[in-house]
Amino acid sequence: MSLPAPVDLAPLHTLGLRASADRLLTLTSIEQWPGIHAQLTFPLHILGGGSNLVPSERVAGTVLKVELKGRQLLGEDEYAWYVAAAAGENWHDFVQWTLAQGWPGLENLSLIPGTVGAAPIQNIGAYGVELKDRFHALSAMNLADGHSCIFTPEQCSFAYRDSVFKQGEVDRWLITEVLFRLPKAWQPMLDYGDLRQQLAGQTPTPQVVAEAVIRTRQSKLPDPAQLGNAGSFFHNPRVDAAQADALRARFAGLPCYPQPDGTVKLAAGWLIEQAGWKGRSLGPVGMYEKQALVLVNHGGATASDVAALMAAVKADVLARFGVALQAEPQWW
Ligand code: EPU
Repeated sequence: MSLPAPVDLAPLHTLGLRASADRLLTLTSIEQWPGIHAQLTFPLHILGGGSNLVPSERVAGTVLKVELKGRQLLGEDEYAWYVAAAAGENWHDFVQWTLAQGWPGLENLSLIPGTVGAAPIQNIGAYGVELKDRFHALSAMNLADGHSCIFTPEQCSFAYRDSVFKQGEVDRWLITEVLFRLPKAWQPMLDYGDLRQQLAGQTPTPQVVAEAVIRTRQSKLPDPAQLGNAGSFFHNPRVDAAQADALRARFAGLPCYPQPDGTVKLAAGWLIEQAGWKGRSLGPVGMYEKQALVLVNHGGATASDVAALMAAVKADVLARFGVALQAEPQWW
Protein backbone atom coordinates (compact mmCIF):
# COMPACT_ATOMS: atom_id res chain seq x y z
CA MET A 1 0.00 0.00 0.00
CA SER A 2 1.41 3.41 -0.90
CA LEU A 3 1.01 6.46 1.32
CA PRO A 4 -0.90 9.45 -0.13
CA ALA A 5 1.32 12.32 -1.34
CA PRO A 6 1.55 15.18 1.17
CA VAL A 7 -0.49 18.31 0.44
CA ASP A 8 1.28 21.69 0.57
CA LEU A 9 -0.33 23.88 3.26
CA ALA A 10 1.79 26.99 2.59
CA PRO A 11 -0.76 28.59 0.22
CA LEU A 12 -3.67 27.61 2.48
CA HIS A 13 -2.73 29.71 5.52
CA THR A 14 -1.70 33.36 5.86
CA LEU A 15 1.58 32.85 7.76
CA GLY A 16 2.87 30.97 4.69
CA LEU A 17 4.98 28.53 6.74
CA ARG A 18 6.64 25.49 5.24
CA ALA A 19 4.02 22.88 6.10
CA SER A 20 2.21 19.95 4.55
CA ALA A 21 -0.69 17.68 5.49
CA ASP A 22 -1.24 13.96 5.10
CA ARG A 23 -4.58 14.56 3.43
CA LEU A 24 -6.79 17.46 2.32
CA LEU A 25 -10.53 17.16 1.67
CA THR A 26 -12.88 19.96 0.63
CA LEU A 27 -16.48 20.41 1.77
CA THR A 28 -18.52 22.43 -0.73
CA SER A 29 -22.01 21.26 0.34
CA ILE A 30 -23.49 19.70 3.48
CA GLU A 31 -24.83 16.82 1.36
CA GLN A 32 -21.23 15.71 0.77
CA TRP A 33 -20.71 15.02 4.47
CA PRO A 34 -21.45 11.24 4.52
CA GLY A 35 -18.98 10.67 1.67
CA ILE A 36 -16.35 12.88 3.33
CA HIS A 37 -16.91 11.23 6.70
CA ALA A 38 -16.12 7.84 5.20
CA GLN A 39 -12.71 9.11 4.00
CA LEU A 40 -11.60 10.85 7.20
CA THR A 41 -8.38 9.98 8.95
CA PHE A 42 -7.71 11.42 12.40
CA PRO A 43 -6.89 13.84 13.89
CA LEU A 44 -9.29 16.02 11.90
CA HIS A 45 -8.42 19.71 11.38
CA ILE A 46 -11.04 22.15 10.10
CA LEU A 47 -9.63 24.86 7.81
CA GLY A 48 -11.27 28.15 6.86
CA GLY A 49 -9.10 30.99 5.55
CA GLY A 50 -6.10 29.82 7.59
CA SER A 51 -5.60 33.33 8.98
CA ASN A 52 -5.17 32.34 12.62
CA LEU A 53 -3.14 29.21 12.22
CA VAL A 54 0.36 27.84 12.91
CA PRO A 55 0.63 24.44 11.15
CA SER A 56 3.55 22.15 11.99
CA GLU A 57 5.85 20.94 9.20
CA ARG A 58 3.85 17.74 8.81
CA VAL A 59 0.22 17.76 9.91
CA ALA A 60 -1.05 14.23 10.51
CA GLY A 61 -4.63 13.13 9.76
CA THR A 62 -7.06 15.07 7.57
CA VAL A 63 -7.38 18.77 6.88
CA LEU A 64 -10.97 19.55 5.90
CA LYS A 65 -11.30 22.83 4.01
CA VAL A 66 -14.75 24.38 4.40
CA GLU A 67 -15.90 25.97 1.14
CA LEU A 68 -19.64 26.23 1.81
CA LYS A 69 -20.91 29.26 -0.11
CA GLY A 70 -24.04 31.43 -0.09
CA ARG A 71 -25.35 34.61 1.55
CA GLN A 72 -28.83 36.05 1.80
CA LEU A 73 -31.21 38.31 3.66
CA LEU A 74 -33.26 35.86 5.73
CA GLY A 75 -35.72 38.44 6.95
CA GLU A 76 -36.24 41.81 8.57
CA ASP A 77 -38.43 43.41 11.18
CA GLU A 78 -38.97 46.94 12.39
CA TYR A 79 -35.63 46.90 14.18
CA ALA A 80 -33.12 44.87 12.19
CA TRP A 81 -32.04 42.99 9.10
CA TYR A 82 -31.20 39.31 9.55
CA VAL A 83 -28.46 38.29 7.13
CA ALA A 84 -27.08 34.75 6.78
CA ALA A 85 -23.79 33.65 5.27
CA ALA A 86 -22.31 30.21 4.74
CA ALA A 87 -19.10 29.36 6.59
CA GLY A 88 -16.84 29.35 3.53
CA GLU A 89 -17.66 32.91 2.44
CA ASN A 90 -14.71 35.30 2.60
CA TRP A 91 -15.28 37.60 5.62
CA HIS A 92 -14.25 40.89 4.03
CA ASP A 93 -16.23 40.23 0.82
CA PHE A 94 -19.27 39.43 2.94
CA VAL A 95 -18.92 42.66 4.95
CA GLN A 96 -18.58 44.75 1.78
CA TRP A 97 -21.61 43.00 0.26
CA THR A 98 -23.79 43.80 3.31
CA LEU A 99 -22.74 47.47 3.04
CA ALA A 100 -23.51 47.54 -0.70
CA GLN A 101 -26.99 46.12 0.04
CA GLY A 102 -27.63 48.94 2.53
CA TRP A 103 -27.39 46.80 5.69
CA PRO A 104 -24.74 48.48 7.83
CA GLY A 105 -23.23 47.31 11.10
CA LEU A 106 -20.18 45.27 10.17
CA GLU A 107 -18.10 48.14 8.70
CA ASN A 108 -15.64 48.31 11.63
CA LEU A 109 -14.77 44.66 10.92
CA SER A 110 -13.71 45.35 7.31
CA LEU A 111 -10.54 43.74 5.93
CA ILE A 112 -10.18 41.13 8.67
CA PRO A 113 -8.70 38.11 6.87
CA GLY A 114 -10.48 34.77 7.09
CA THR A 115 -13.90 33.24 6.55
CA VAL A 116 -17.39 33.78 7.98
CA GLY A 117 -17.32 30.36 9.67
CA ALA A 118 -14.10 31.12 11.54
CA ALA A 119 -15.27 34.53 12.75
CA PRO A 120 -17.35 33.32 15.75
CA ILE A 121 -14.68 30.87 16.92
CA GLN A 122 -12.50 33.61 18.31
CA ASN A 123 -15.18 36.32 18.30
CA ILE A 124 -13.21 38.54 15.92
CA GLY A 125 -13.07 42.20 16.81
CA ALA A 126 -11.58 45.50 15.75
CA TYR A 127 -12.04 49.24 16.33
CA GLY A 128 -14.60 48.91 19.11
CA VAL A 129 -16.85 46.24 17.55
CA GLU A 130 -16.82 42.48 18.12
CA LEU A 131 -18.63 39.82 16.13
CA LYS A 132 -20.83 39.09 19.18
CA ASP A 133 -22.29 42.64 18.90
CA ARG A 134 -23.88 41.76 15.53
CA PHE A 135 -24.43 38.03 16.01
CA HIS A 136 -27.84 36.37 16.11
CA ALA A 137 -27.27 32.60 15.81
CA LEU A 138 -25.20 29.97 14.01
CA SER A 139 -25.67 26.48 12.63
CA ALA A 140 -23.05 23.88 13.34
CA MET A 141 -22.76 20.23 12.50
CA ASN A 142 -21.78 17.76 15.19
CA LEU A 143 -18.77 15.96 13.73
CA ALA A 144 -19.54 12.79 15.66
CA ASP A 145 -23.01 12.14 14.22
CA GLY A 146 -23.52 14.66 11.38
CA HIS A 147 -26.51 16.31 13.07
CA SER A 148 -26.96 20.07 12.84
CA CYS A 149 -27.64 22.31 15.84
CA ILE A 150 -28.50 25.98 16.25
CA PHE A 151 -26.36 27.94 18.74
CA THR A 152 -27.76 31.07 20.39
CA PRO A 153 -25.40 33.86 21.56
CA GLU A 154 -25.58 32.50 25.13
CA GLN A 155 -24.64 29.01 23.97
CA CYS A 156 -21.61 30.41 22.13
CA SER A 157 -20.22 31.94 25.39
CA PHE A 158 -18.50 34.77 23.53
CA ALA A 159 -15.72 36.64 25.29
CA TYR A 160 -12.64 38.62 24.21
CA ARG A 161 -11.20 36.58 21.30
CA ASP A 162 -12.95 33.53 22.71
CA SER A 163 -16.04 31.29 22.44
CA VAL A 164 -17.23 27.82 23.34
CA PHE A 165 -15.70 26.64 20.03
CA LYS A 166 -12.20 27.42 21.35
CA GLN A 167 -12.86 25.87 24.75
CA GLY A 168 -14.63 22.65 25.75
CA GLU A 169 -16.36 22.19 22.40
CA VAL A 170 -13.21 22.46 20.32
CA ASP A 171 -13.04 19.87 17.49
CA ARG A 172 -16.65 18.80 18.12
CA TRP A 173 -18.43 21.15 15.74
CA LEU A 174 -18.15 22.33 12.17
CA ILE A 175 -19.77 25.77 11.83
CA THR A 176 -21.80 25.77 8.61
CA GLU A 177 -23.67 29.10 8.63
CA VAL A 178 -23.77 32.31 10.65
CA LEU A 179 -26.80 34.60 11.05
CA PHE A 180 -26.20 38.28 11.79
CA ARG A 181 -28.61 40.81 13.25
CA LEU A 182 -27.87 44.24 11.82
CA PRO A 183 -29.87 46.95 13.65
CA LYS A 184 -31.68 49.50 11.47
CA ALA A 185 -30.93 52.27 13.99
CA TRP A 186 -27.35 52.68 12.79
CA GLN A 187 -24.78 54.67 14.73
CA PRO A 188 -21.16 55.03 13.62
CA MET A 189 -18.83 53.39 16.17
CA LEU A 190 -15.95 55.84 16.40
CA ASP A 191 -14.62 55.13 19.90
CA TYR A 192 -11.24 54.24 18.44
CA GLY A 193 -9.05 57.36 18.34
CA ASP A 194 -7.62 56.82 14.85
CA LEU A 195 -11.08 56.56 13.30
CA ARG A 196 -12.43 59.60 15.15
CA GLN A 197 -9.48 61.68 13.97
CA GLN A 198 -9.72 60.54 10.37
CA LEU A 199 -13.44 61.24 10.20
CA ALA A 200 -13.49 64.57 12.03
CA GLY A 201 -15.60 67.02 10.02
CA GLN A 202 -17.02 64.32 7.70
CA THR A 203 -20.47 62.74 7.56
CA PRO A 204 -19.61 59.19 8.52
CA THR A 205 -21.80 56.95 6.37
CA PRO A 206 -21.20 53.20 6.87
CA GLN A 207 -19.16 53.15 3.65
CA VAL A 208 -17.01 56.07 4.80
CA VAL A 209 -16.36 54.30 8.13
CA ALA A 210 -15.43 51.11 6.24
CA GLU A 211 -12.96 53.06 4.09
CA ALA A 212 -11.37 54.61 7.20
CA VAL A 213 -11.06 51.17 8.82
CA ILE A 214 -9.46 49.80 5.66
CA ARG A 215 -6.97 52.71 5.53
CA THR A 216 -6.11 52.25 9.21
CA ARG A 217 -5.55 48.51 8.86
CA GLN A 218 -3.48 48.96 5.70
CA SER A 219 -1.24 51.52 7.43
CA LYS A 220 -0.49 49.27 10.44
CA LEU A 221 -0.98 45.65 9.45
CA PRO A 222 0.95 43.73 6.79
CA ASP A 223 -0.97 42.28 3.83
CA PRO A 224 -0.60 38.47 4.12
CA ALA A 225 -0.24 38.30 0.32
CA GLN A 226 2.97 40.37 0.66
CA LEU A 227 4.30 39.29 4.07
CA GLY A 228 3.13 36.15 5.87
CA ASN A 229 1.38 36.87 9.19
CA ALA A 230 -1.58 35.81 11.33
CA GLY A 231 -2.74 39.24 12.54
CA SER A 232 -2.23 39.90 16.24
CA PHE A 233 -0.10 37.06 17.49
CA PHE A 234 -0.85 37.57 21.22
CA HIS A 235 -3.97 38.51 23.17
CA ASN A 236 -3.96 41.84 24.93
CA PRO A 237 -3.35 40.62 28.52
CA ARG A 238 -5.56 41.45 31.47
CA VAL A 239 -4.15 42.21 34.90
CA ASP A 240 -5.82 43.19 38.17
CA ALA A 241 -6.12 46.89 39.07
CA ALA A 242 -3.32 46.73 41.67
CA GLN A 243 -0.84 45.30 39.17
CA ALA A 244 -1.89 47.88 36.57
CA ASP A 245 -1.31 50.71 39.09
CA ALA A 246 2.12 49.31 40.00
CA LEU A 247 3.10 49.02 36.33
CA ARG A 248 1.85 52.50 35.52
CA ALA A 249 3.93 53.93 38.36
CA ARG A 250 7.06 52.34 36.86
CA PHE A 251 6.36 52.74 33.16
CA ALA A 252 5.08 56.11 31.96
CA GLY A 253 2.95 55.82 28.83
CA LEU A 254 1.70 52.28 29.54
CA PRO A 255 -1.67 52.03 27.70
CA CYS A 256 -4.37 50.78 30.11
CA TYR A 257 -7.98 49.94 29.26
CA PRO A 258 -10.13 49.42 32.39
CA GLN A 259 -12.67 46.60 31.90
CA PRO A 260 -16.22 46.37 33.28
CA ASP A 261 -15.15 43.50 35.59
CA GLY A 262 -12.53 45.66 37.34
CA THR A 263 -9.52 44.16 35.53
CA VAL A 264 -7.32 46.26 33.25
CA LYS A 265 -6.42 45.32 29.70
CA LEU A 266 -2.87 46.18 28.62
CA ALA A 267 -1.61 46.63 25.04
CA ALA A 268 0.56 43.63 24.18
CA GLY A 269 2.01 45.57 21.20
CA TRP A 270 3.31 48.25 23.58
CA LEU A 271 4.82 45.70 25.98
CA ILE A 272 6.55 43.89 23.09
CA GLU A 273 7.89 47.14 21.66
CA GLN A 274 9.24 48.23 25.05
CA ALA A 275 10.86 44.80 25.45
CA GLY A 276 12.84 45.60 22.31
CA TRP A 277 11.14 43.29 19.85
CA LYS A 278 9.48 45.71 17.42
CA GLY A 279 11.05 45.19 14.00
CA ARG A 280 13.45 42.58 15.42
CA SER A 281 13.85 39.08 13.98
CA LEU A 282 14.88 35.69 15.23
CA GLY A 283 15.81 33.52 12.26
CA PRO A 284 13.30 33.88 9.42
CA VAL A 285 10.51 35.32 11.61
CA GLY A 286 10.17 38.64 13.41
CA MET A 287 7.82 41.09 15.09
CA TYR A 288 6.51 43.56 12.49
CA GLU A 289 8.20 46.94 12.28
CA LYS A 290 4.91 48.92 12.28
CA GLN A 291 2.92 46.84 14.81
CA ALA A 292 4.93 44.79 17.31
CA LEU A 293 1.94 42.52 18.04
CA VAL A 294 2.10 40.97 14.57
CA LEU A 295 4.53 38.10 13.98
CA VAL A 296 5.74 37.99 10.38
CA ASN A 297 7.39 35.33 8.23
CA HIS A 298 10.20 36.86 6.16
CA GLY A 299 10.37 33.64 4.12
CA GLY A 300 10.96 29.94 4.52
CA ALA A 301 9.93 29.73 8.19
CA THR A 302 8.46 26.69 9.94
CA ALA A 303 6.33 26.33 13.08
CA SER A 304 9.55 25.69 15.06
CA ASP A 305 10.84 29.15 14.10
CA VAL A 306 7.53 30.65 15.20
CA ALA A 307 7.66 28.74 18.51
CA ALA A 308 11.22 29.96 19.19
CA LEU A 309 10.31 33.62 18.60
CA MET A 310 7.12 33.28 20.60
CA ALA A 311 9.07 31.86 23.56
CA ALA A 312 11.72 34.60 23.36
CA VAL A 313 9.14 37.42 23.24
CA LYS A 314 7.11 35.90 26.08
CA ALA A 315 10.22 35.48 28.25
CA ASP A 316 11.37 39.08 27.72
CA VAL A 317 7.93 40.56 28.39
CA LEU A 318 7.59 38.44 31.53
CA ALA A 319 11.05 39.42 32.78
CA ARG A 320 10.47 43.12 32.21
CA PHE A 321 6.81 43.57 33.17
CA GLY A 322 5.82 40.41 35.06
CA VAL A 323 3.03 39.88 32.51
CA ALA A 324 2.46 36.50 30.82
CA LEU A 325 1.46 36.83 27.15
CA GLN A 326 -0.81 34.25 25.59
CA ALA A 327 -0.61 33.38 21.90
CA GLU A 328 -3.77 33.90 19.83
CA PRO A 329 -3.47 31.49 16.86
CA GLN A 330 -4.39 27.86 16.78
CA TRP A 331 -1.50 25.35 16.53
CA TRP A 332 -1.78 22.15 14.50
N1 EPU B 1 1.32 49.93 20.46
C1 EPU B 1 2.66 50.21 20.61
N2 EPU B 1 3.55 49.59 19.79
C2 EPU B 1 3.16 48.69 18.84
C3 EPU B 1 1.80 48.39 18.69
C4 EPU B 1 0.89 49.02 19.52
O1 EPU B 1 3.06 51.01 21.45
O2 EPU B 1 4.05 48.19 18.13
C5 EPU B 1 0.34 50.64 21.30
C6 EPU B 1 -0.47 51.63 20.47
O3 EPU B 1 0.17 52.86 20.36
C7 EPU B 1 -1.74 51.73 21.26
C8 EPU B 1 -1.91 50.33 21.84
O4 EPU B 1 -0.62 49.74 21.80
O5 EPU B 1 -1.60 52.63 22.34
C9 EPU B 1 -2.92 49.49 21.07
O6 EPU B 1 -2.49 49.32 19.72
P1 EPU B 1 -3.53 49.18 18.50
O7 EPU B 1 -4.53 50.27 18.59
O8 EPU B 1 -2.75 49.06 17.26
O9 EPU B 1 -4.35 47.87 18.79
P2 EPU B 1 -3.92 46.46 19.43
O10 EPU B 1 -4.42 46.43 20.83
O11 EPU B 1 -2.47 46.25 19.22
C10 EPU B 1 -6.14 45.25 18.82
C11 EPU B 1 -6.54 43.98 18.18
C12 EPU B 1 -6.44 44.08 16.65
C13 EPU B 1 -7.36 45.20 16.20
C14 EPU B 1 -6.95 46.49 16.91
C15 EPU B 1 -7.90 47.64 16.62
C16 EPU B 1 -6.02 42.20 19.76
C17 EPU B 1 -5.12 41.06 20.11
N3 EPU B 1 -5.70 42.89 18.67
O12 EPU B 1 -4.76 45.46 18.53
O13 EPU B 1 -6.90 42.86 16.09
O14 EPU B 1 -7.31 45.37 14.80
O15 EPU B 1 -6.95 46.31 18.35
O16 EPU B 1 -9.11 47.41 17.26
O17 EPU B 1 -6.99 42.45 20.48
C18 EPU B 1 -6.17 40.73 15.31
O18 EPU B 1 -6.78 40.24 16.27
O19 EPU B 1 -5.58 40.01 14.48
C19 EPU B 1 -6.12 42.17 15.18
C20 EPU B 1 -5.37 42.78 14.25
